[in-house]
Amino acid sequence: MPSTNSQPVAASLTRAAIFLVVTMNDGAEAAVKGLCADLSALVRSVGFRDLDARLNCVMGIGSNAWDRLFGAPRPKELHPFREIRGQHHAVATPGDLLFHIRSASMDLCFELAAQIMSRLDGAVAVADEVHGFKYFDNRDLLGFVDGTENPVDQEALDATVIGEEDAAFAGGSYVIVQKYLHDLKGWNAVPVEQQEGFVGRTKLSDIELDDAVKPSFAHNALTVIEENGQELKIVRANMPFGEVGKGEYGTYFCGYARSPSRTERMLENMFVGLPPGNYDRLLDFSRPVTGTLFFVPSVTFLDDVVAEPAAPAAESEAPSPSPSSSSDGSLGIGSLSKGSEKQ
Ligand code: HEM
Repeated sequence: MPSTNSQPVAASLTRAAIFLVVTMNDGAEAAVKGLCADLSALVRSVGFRDLDARLNCVMGIGSNAWDRLFGAPRPKELHPFREIRGQHHAVATPGDLLFHIRSASMDLCFELAAQIMSRLDGAVAVADEVHGFKYFDNRDLLGFVDGTENPVDQEALDATVIGEEDAAFAGGSYVIVQKYLHDLKGWNAVPVEQQEGFVGRTKLSDIELDDAVKPSFAHNALTVIEENGQELKIVRANMPFGEVGKGEYGTYFCGYARSPSRTERMLENMFVGLPPGNYDRLLDFSRPVTGTLFFVPSVTFLDDVVAEPAAPAAESEAPSPSPSSSSDGSLGIGSLSKGSEKQ
């Protein structure tokens, strides 16, 4: 089944996470392909130093980067993140690769991020780096528990892992990330009962509001979407982050889904409103400063990527149709990357 070789997109929330979004410099293809094949081995090497901390990493590839690295065939629904201009603005920002690194312990996340960056030294530029932390009982910095209604186990895999709808990329997934900054002063001036209406749950006890009292613009009213009477779920791996000295308090939104259209529909409901104008009031206090969409190939796909020699500066090579189509293997330590990272 596809889920057996997927990257750990449906892994549970951890105490620590690093979200690293990078752009690829000219001629970066060889270095990035080399890393694709070796990522499993790198995660194993760093993770083995503290197995209890359960280190894992998801690598995502943006639409333009896909063309540069692999060309056709392409994952059916891979495209650049589409900005939304509604009551509020969901910006689209640059990003070729995402590394979503999770562990119970920040030292492992940090070490893996450093190892990845040393492999990509000179080939990429960091567009955004966020170190997220668990805040009490999985609360966001607005004070609400975040993640309660995430699907788990098989339901999480069903929500996130591509199946027969795109057989060539079965086992893959899509992820949309957005870095939100909160206006905490403004938020804390809002009475708790009104905040609860904005979120659609009680603040202290995290119980969903009854439909009779839940506003139609509540966050969990606008983000619950259906198709043919069936709810379409995503798996969120949001993390709080911040820097008190800068007055920066944020939520890093990270939503995995087997189709990006699910998350895009939720964003449309939040930013434009349902019906238009009936938008998500969380956005009056939370501003996205990034927005990027990535395809998440299966571990098998990544393991099979074969490194290429760097292209001569003058002429760049045509993209290769499959991860292993051209190579002399000079940069690969692919033989070390046997086995797959499992859910
Ligand atoms: C500032 C950014 C955000 C914050 C602070 C936030 C916070 C929350 C909170 C507190 C909940 C209720 C508890 C839970 O079920 O997890 C929730 C639910 C949810 N959020 Fe967000 N969220 C943010 C952005 C987003 C975005 C951008 C999306 C999708 C595009 C989204 C999708 C969802 C979904 C699907 C649910 C579950 C609804 C349900 O099944 O009841 N959230 N969020």
